[in-house]
Amino acid sequence: MPDLQDRRHDLVIRGATIVDGTGAPRFAGDVAVAGDRIAAIGDLGGESAAREIDAAGLILSPGFIDVHTHDDNALLRDDAMRPKLTQGVTTVVTGNCGISLAPLAPKGPPVPPLDLLGDAGAFRYPDFAAYMATLDAAALPVNAVPMVGHTTLRVAAMDALDRPARDREIAAMQALVRECLEAGAAGLSTGLFYPPARDAPKEEVVALLEVLSGSGAVYTTHMRDEGDHVTESLAESFETARTAGVPLIVSHHKCSGRENFGRSRETLAMFDAARARQDVALDAYPYAASSTVLLDEYLGKAKRIMIAWSEPYPDICGRYLDEIAAAWGCAETEAFRRLKPGGAIYFVMDEEDVRRILAYKYTMIGSDGLPHDKHPHPRLWGAFARVLGHYVREVGLMPLEQAVHKMTGLSAARFALTDRGVIRAGAFADLVLFDAARIAEGGSFENPARPAAGIEMVLVNGRPVLADGTPTGEKPGRALRRAA
Ligand code: ZN
Ligand code: CU
Repeated sequence: MPDLQDRRHDLVIRGATIVDGTGAPRFAGDVAVAGDRIAAIGDLGGESAAREIDAAGLILSPGFIDVHTHDDNALLRDDAMRPKLTQGVTTVVTGNCGISLAPLAPKGPPVPPLDLLGDAGAFRYPDFAAYMATLDAAALPVNAVPMVGHTTLRVAAMDALDRPARDREIAAMQALVRECLEAGAAGLSTGLFYPPARDAPKEEVVALLEVLSGSGAVYTTHMRDEGDHVTESLAESFETARTAGVPLIVSHHKCSGRENFGRSRETLAMFDAARARQDVALDAYPYAASSTVLLDEYLGKAKRIMIAWSEPYPDICGRYLDEIAAAWGCAETEAFRRLKPGGAIYFVMDEEDVRRILAYKYTMIGSDGLPHDKHPHPRLWGAFARVLGHYVREVGLMPLEQAVHKMTGLSAARFALTDRGVIRAGAFADLVLFDAARIAEGGSFENPARPAAGIEMVLVNGRPVLADGTPTGEKPGRALRRAA
């Protein structure tokens, strides 16, 4: 029987190849965990623990941070975070693309794209503090970093969305933003591409972002245009953030539509130029197809469209629009109209742009997964595993260390997450143990809801949420408030 005094640690992971999240080269070592933190790193041969894990041949890295999610509501639903924790995600940033669950408690059903977060019943948090308190009280499988969405604020403060906000409405939204920040919101997002926010001019966004200035909160944006006017939209995003004096993160950066293939050369040069003047970063998912609600703008733009969900035709999910139109004997535009409200997967990008953007120094990985879709885009279950399996191992797009940095250290730094995203003594024990030779997404566009392969163990705040590739049912996650 081991001497109790000997049990200095709760857990020791032995003989791992450590990729620490900073981008530094891998090294061999042991990692000890005590409570919710990493206690020691190095050759811990002389130290014992209540539990020991043999990690020979495996990579140990910080748990992945999914900086672009729509998990606001999924966090609170039983088992809905399974797509994330099975691929090694230990923290999710919510409230992206202008849509957040709080602060909003509407009477009727949510307007698209708010319905990506769930149905009417999901929206029941009139203030951000109430949402944060619900996360605190709930058992979370992973950590949550909630942001507030501009579209949510518009729906809460305006009686019509097809115009700029008036002075009184801007004042009301600013008061809401203040409350969100006090409750710990990590940032403000916009979805200027979507109809409920499309008529918001730059000045309206600047007025709200000015409340963030100096708070450490970030601005993330699903830009007005990611296609023909992508460079104009980038310029607008840079100027908006610079005027308000806040750090900018451009969401799911892409060049959408055939005419714009190859333009990531141009857009990434713009990021380089902007970085000389202001704090700018971006996120991306590793696929050449996007996904959102059914929007006419995509008709004629996308090479192909696959239906992800449809309220009137739930059984048609996973089929292509052209096949549905042929079966119905109507035009694609007509079939599209009949399928609403719903969502789709749009094949609108060029593979070379996807690769160039993923490999760019300041690009973080964000899944943009849609957890409520009936037939979701495979990014929900596979984004992180696909980067490490397909793009790192098979394609050789970048070294493993750099890819892990884009999922961990870089992301924690951009969102000011204290003591996360790195393997270092004293940091929180959010860890993932995986087999670099086997890691791969399990799903596909045809069959998306399948867990990743090669993930052996995932720890959140020192406790295992996945062991031997299987969820443990433990819920050690926390709602993380913005550091002061
Ligand atoms: Zn978006
Ligand atoms: Cu999004």
